[in-house]
Amino acid sequence: MPLILSIIFIITAILFVVYGIYATKSGAPFWPTGRKKVKQMIQLAELTKDDVVMDLGSGDGRIVRAAAPYVTRAIGIEINPVLHYWALFLRLCSPYKKQMIFEQTNLWKTDLSEIDVLFLFFMPDKMEKLHQKIKKEMKPGSRIVSNIFQFPGWSIVKKHDMIYVYQLS
Ligand SMILES: C[S@@+](CC[C@H](N)C(=O)[O-])C[C@H]1O[C@@H](n2cnc3c(N)ncnc32)[C@H](O)[C@@H]1O
Repeated sequence: MPLILSIIFIITAILFVVYGIYATKSGAPFWPTGRKKVKQMIQLAELTKDDVVMDLGSGDGRIVRAAAPYVTRAIGIEINPVLHYWALFLRLCSPYKKQMIFEQTNLWKTDLSEIDVLFLFFMPDKMEKLHQKIKKEMKPGSRIVSNIFQFPGWSIVKKHDMIYVYQLS
């Protein structure tokens, strides 16, 4: 039994590291948003019951769990399978599990056309590429709440404690 547990632990650790390296190159490393900041991001988003929201690179799913009580659907997109399954496990403990969806996929292949509010915490060198994707796919009026990093040349509609809110015209 301890041998099986050791093997599971080693495989999980290898997956976490390998996908962590890939995630760092393709978007951002796993660096979770602090609890206080998660609350601030949710408040700044001014969520409504009609909203479909997405956290692009959802990590352990904390933003999705925090948003779920206020919206129709909260979706988490995460490439790292270890974080994805951990988020699915934590979802089981939530009374709002019906509102929550987690997908293990690459965010660059994710369609954003149905999303009303997009949360993100990305590296600065990916912000321009992401801005192009948002402009191409998201509908007018949708909001984007970015933790720490700004979109170059895009007007901010609200800002608090290095959280930046944008709206598509
Ligand atoms: C800075 S963390 C933010 C986690 C979470 N949103 C939060 O605020 O706590 C960025 C997350 O994006 C994920 N990520 C990076 N590149 C990705 C990609 N191409 N597709 C999906 N997820 C990605 C990482 O694995 C990591 O969990």
